[in-house]
Amino acid sequence: MKIGCPKEIKPQEFRVGLTPNAAHEAIARGHDVLIETQAGTGSGFSDDDYAAVGAKIVGEAADVFAQADMIVKVKEPQAVERKMLREGQILFTYLHLAPDPEQTRDLMASGCTAIAYETVTDGQGGLPLLAPMSEVAGRLAPQVGAWTLQKANGGRGTLMGGVPGVGPANVVVVGGGVVGTHAARVAAGMGADVTVLDRSLPRLRYLDDTFRGVFKNRYSTAGATAELIRDTDLVVGAVLIPGAAAPKLISREQLSDMKPGAALVDVAIDQGGCFETSRATTHADPIYEVDGIMHYCVANMPGAVARTSTIALGNATLPYLLALADKGWRQACEDDPHLLNGLNVHAGHLTYFAVGKALGIDVLSQALALKE
Ligand SMILES: NC(=O)c1ccc[n+]([C@@H]2O[C@H](COP(=O)([O-])OP(=O)(O)OC[C@H]3O[C@@H](n4cnc5c(N)ncnc54)[C@H](O)[C@@H]3O)[C@@H](O)[C@H]2O)c1
Repeated sequence: MKIGCPKEIKPQEFRVGLTPNAAHEAIARGHDVLIETQAGTGSGFSDDDYAAVGAKIVGEAADVFAQADMIVKVKEPQAVERKMLREGQILFTYLHLAPDPEQTRDLMASGCTAIAYETVTDGQGGLPLLAPMSEVAGRLAPQVGAWTLQKANGGRGTLMGGVPGVGPANVVVVGGGVVGTHAARVAAGMGADVTVLDRSLPRLRYLDDTFRGVFKNRYSTAGATAELIRDTDLVVGAVLIPGAAAPKLISREQLSDMKPGAALVDVAIDQGGCFETSRATTHADPIYEVDGIMHYCVANMPGAVARTSTIALGNATLPYLLALADKGWRQACEDDPHLLNGLNVHAGHLTYFAVGKALGIDVLSQALALKE
């Protein structure tokens, strides 16, 4: 198969869909890999790195799209890219179609077969191609939180780990899933006093068994949150209710109960945010203040560490990418129902029910699409 990887063109996106190591593995199995020139630069991979493993460097995105049987990307295809997709071509990338009717219609009109990273599942009920980005954002949250707490950034001037004779920062992590667990681990590693709140007792049991003593945990109620935030330097928002907007767990009124200069890092901002006063920010201008409380609400946190994010995403996508290339999408999806769950669009049909419901578009079941 000819696998094509164009340079990402969405603003502020520095990741790339294929690492040189992934390209190497595909080439070793007999596939051809086409990389648009400079596609890996933002993640620290040069054209030479790709050429060294046998990939062909291509000057224009249009040539990558024209020649490849499968396009591998990171972000959803932009309008100009969607025009270059064609019938029978496989698109393997993040899509997030539910809030994006324009993209959905364009993908259907192209006739391509689009497999979305975010809806591929695993045997443990997880989302294996979303998890690496949650791991990155989670580990980054205390790092950006610590920076936000610095005086020059409007913060309280508290050092996460304190020093001998001075206590550490108090950190509350709301939501103990992938983001929350990684945030809590790193915050505790920085020496902070950390409490994780979650509404899932099985999750709290897991955290308690696994991280005994590293950080505390409590069942998440409005009362527990109200009590804890009075004495907190940093709150990390890491809740997710699948398929729903994030619940608002700290109101504007409650900000006045917090210590001036305390920081809120709302990782859940991509689902609308879990603090009433959250609004999405960018890496260029990441923080703002409301009622004396500093907010960090960057919607694409992994972009700050594009190299780590690219490699982490590449590790997760590689087995699926190889299966699609080796077997073709139909056989690969027939053999792996979790990969089939990633099928969102095929040959003019929408094939993902939640997207169809959100956009009011008729859906062809994934099982029937396999037989088309
Ligand atoms: N901003 C970014 O760059 C970025 C990057 C990655 C992920 N995210 C977002 O971070 C959020 C968390 O992702 P995740 O992978 O950790 O999800 P996850 O499903 O692994 O974890 C979510 C946790 O929230 C808990 N929860 C739900 N309601 C709660 C409540 N009221 N109080 C406390 N806990 C509650 C759930 O029980 C679950 O354990 C998602 O919105 C995700 O999209 C953002």
